[in-house]
Amino acid sequence: MRVHVEPQQRPLQGAITVPGDKSISHRAALLAALADGTSRIHRYNPGADTRSTLACLEKLGVTHILQDDVLTVHGASTWQEPTDVLNAGNSGTTMRMLLGLLAGRDFFSVLTGDASLRERPMARVVLPLKRMGADIRGRQQGNLSPLAITGKPLLGMDYHLPVASAQVKSALLWAGLFAQGTTRVSEPHPSRDHTERLLAHAGLGIERTPSHVEIRGGRAPASFCLEVPGDPSSAAFFITAACIVPGSELLVQDVGLNPTRLGFLEVLKRMGAKIQLQVHQEEPEPVGNILVQARALTGTTIKRHEVPLLIDELPVLAVAGAMASGTLAMEGIGELRHKESDRLQGIVDLLHALGGRARVCGDNLLVTESSLKGSLLHAHGDHRMAMTAAVAALAAQGPTTICGCECVNVSHPAFFHELASLGVKVSC
Ligand code: S3P
Repeated sequence: MRVHVEPQQRPLQGAITVPGDKSISHRAALLAALADGTSRIHRYNPGADTRSTLACLEKLGVTHILQDDVLTVHGASTWQEPTDVLNAGNSGTTMRMLLGLLAGRDFFSVLTGDASLRERPMARVVLPLKRMGADIRGRQQGNLSPLAITGKPLLGMDYHLPVASAQVKSALLWAGLFAQGTTRVSEPHPSRDHTERLLAHAGLGIERTPSHVEIRGGRAPASFCLEVPGDPSSAAFFITAACIVPGSELLVQDVGLNPTRLGFLEVLKRMGAKIQLQVHQEEPEPVGNILVQARALTGTTIKRHEVPLLIDELPVLAVAGAMASGTLAMEGIGELRHKESDRLQGIVDLLHALGGRARVCGDNLLVTESSLKGSLLHAHGDHRMAMTAAVAALAAQGPTTICGCECVNVSHPAFFHELASLGVKVSC
């Protein structure tokens, strides 16, 4: 699907909501599937990734009904051996979390994904799981899927992640539920903590300190009800758009305000944007409104320790960098090479195609104030790159065409409709 976006001549004004959080939706469905009894999850994310999680659960014998955005899961502590390969589609979260949940089961399963996911590194999950006793095999010594898992008894362990990753941390915590003894995980820098919060919500006490999280095996979660907050990573595209279109004022309602997801707001504030939060709820996840008002932006430096708190927002922040005076520096963002596409190269290619200035130095990226012109851009099958391209197009002089936009279905199928509702000229 090709989408044409016109430069935005008028301020973006109004109030929007975004779909339920993708990360929380995956975790809630998986946790509900483990709980004996019926759980209900409201505002389940409508994207293809969270559907992949449900399709895998169905093959594992977990029944569910999804009506509009309300997911009802009839969980069971015992899952069935799947008679077919489990396909995680484009979803790294589905694959990594299921690795943790399947490694300690008493059956055989195979996990695969689409062409992009089959090239994404899995050793970061497979190697620590093997230390717990897992038997997982795949291409390149088990780094690439398809991955074959022969369930084995697991032993708890103490593990320090070399690179902060919520997916790896969560996979190990899930595996820890099925392991004998205690599993303790620590990270070089904090990453999103939705798994920890949801485990507590389902009655599974876990020990948390600023430096580690610890779970005891052999316990089952209780069934639960949950209202998923709006996804701040989806909101980030609209918020950044409002920051770069002069005169804009935008309210994002009922969105997740978990601090482990809001690093991008801190960066935009440092760059000069006016951003206010209204918190309506604290537990199990903070939820509220975000009000953003456009102001002139200035470059800043995103430090390595901040990266896990804004990992998915780096591409769109780079667009804000191009529209800011001075330089936006992003330090230690090499992980972007291992996302749904090579996002580090993707950002540079996108900005260069628009006549912008961006340069990679090792694992760092420098984006310098630019005057963008309309162009022909490619999403490369990556939902966040398609949405980043649309935001950049608003600030360009002249129309932009973005190829391969169907991938926005992965996280936010109505993305272009929402953009149009704010007065942006978008056509297919
Ligand atoms: C996610 C964690 C992040 C993020 C991904 C979703 C999660 O990945 O990029 O989109 O739901 O835990 P990493 O754990 O690889 O940093």
